[in-house]
Amino acid sequence: MSSEKELILEIKDLHTYFYDREDIIWKILDGVNLKIYKGETLGILGPSGSGKSVLTRSILRLVDYPGKIEKGQILFKGKDLLTIDEEIFNKIRGKEISLVLQNAPSSIDPLRDMTYTTSEPYREHIEEDLARSEIKMLVVSQLGKVALQEPLKVSDKYAHELSGGESQRVKIASAVINNPTLLIADEPVANLDATIARQILELLHQMKEKFNLTMILIAHNLGILAELSDKIAILYAGKILEYSDVDTIFYHPIHPFTQGLFYASPSIAPRGKLKPIPGKEPDARRLPPGCRFHPRCEYAIEKCKKELPELEEFKEGHSVACWRANEIPEFKRE
Ligand SMILES: Nc1ncnc2c1ncn2[C@@H]1O[C@H](COP(=O)(O)OP(=O)(O)OP(=O)(O)O)[C@@H](O)[C@H]1O
Ligand code: SF4
Ligand SMILES: [Mg+2]
Repeated sequence: MSSEKELILEIKDLHTYFYDREDIIWKILDGVNLKIYKGETLGILGPSGSGKSVLTRSILRLVDYPGKIEKGQILFKGKDLLTIDEEIFNKIRGKEISLVLQNAPSSIDPLRDMTYTTSEPYREHIEEDLARSEIKMLVVSQLGKVALQEPLKVSDKYAHELSGGESQRVKIASAVINNPTLLIADEPVANLDATIARQILELLHQMKEKFNLTMILIAHNLGILAELSDKIAILYAGKILEYSDVDTIFYHPIHPFTQGLFYASPSIAPRGKLKPIPGKEPDARRLPPGCRFHPRCEYAIEKCKKELPELEEFKEGHSVACWRANEIPEFKRE
């Protein structure tokens, strides 16, 4: 299906490292490969610290000292974002690629009203000055699209006058104001209560459908990702361990880490089989040799301790980074 679709983003062999004062390398992203096609939502699932936000910052060229993109390509509609001039990139960031982050009180300038906040990416990317009344009209229409009640009143408000859900809607309105090709939502519902979180995710999904956006969605919740994603990538210690369409990942996961996540999830684990993954995620300064997951893997063999498996096609559209992919017992939901 996807082979006929337009490839929007292709990440090739991306290495993003951080360095500490002793110049010790933290291999946060260590050879990431991903493809995202037009209109798809790619869900990225991974433990805290696995590199999800560093990946979004790498795509937007927002990795600063002591971090550095060491190697790789990020092809957006065929153009490598890592090599184009800053001036050209500035025309892409916030216009063709936009970002929604988690709802943090500090993420909206408390001294600016919602007309200013919502229209900021729009004003940054237009040549001519628009009259305040024209900006206002645009913002009110945009706030209406994200189902904010009384958008005219909201446009005059400041951050402290909005609830968490309302301010997240404003941020989404702002992120889509330029009708971007790619929307990156990095934990967009963290810090929101469950009901509001669901509404915001539904809104994101509606926006995606309405404007034919391509989306990268990062969330910790398996259920959320399953509902809203077309494809899922599992990130662990800077490597993609498994990648597939959402049904395959959820019904036929292969990688022992993916299976482990499901056995550790009360809503997914088969009855009587709920168990945590033993051990913890490796420290990025001291990654284990071989497969990064081997110290926690019940299927590990000698080869796993020495040689690092790369992501390989297991079946069409389903890739797994595991030496024993063909031997791992099937995950049974019941
Ligand atoms: N500015 C920085 N300086 C040094 N190390 C950093 C910096 N930013 C990120 N890192 C390192 O990169 C690792 C991955 O961070 P990242 O924010 O991408 O994790 P994440 O997968 O988004 O986690 P979470 O689910 O908690 O948001 C961190 O554990 C940290 O070690
Ligand atoms: S490569 Fe080996 S250690 Fe890694 S997940 Fe597969 S079986 Fe486990
Ligand atoms: Mg993060």
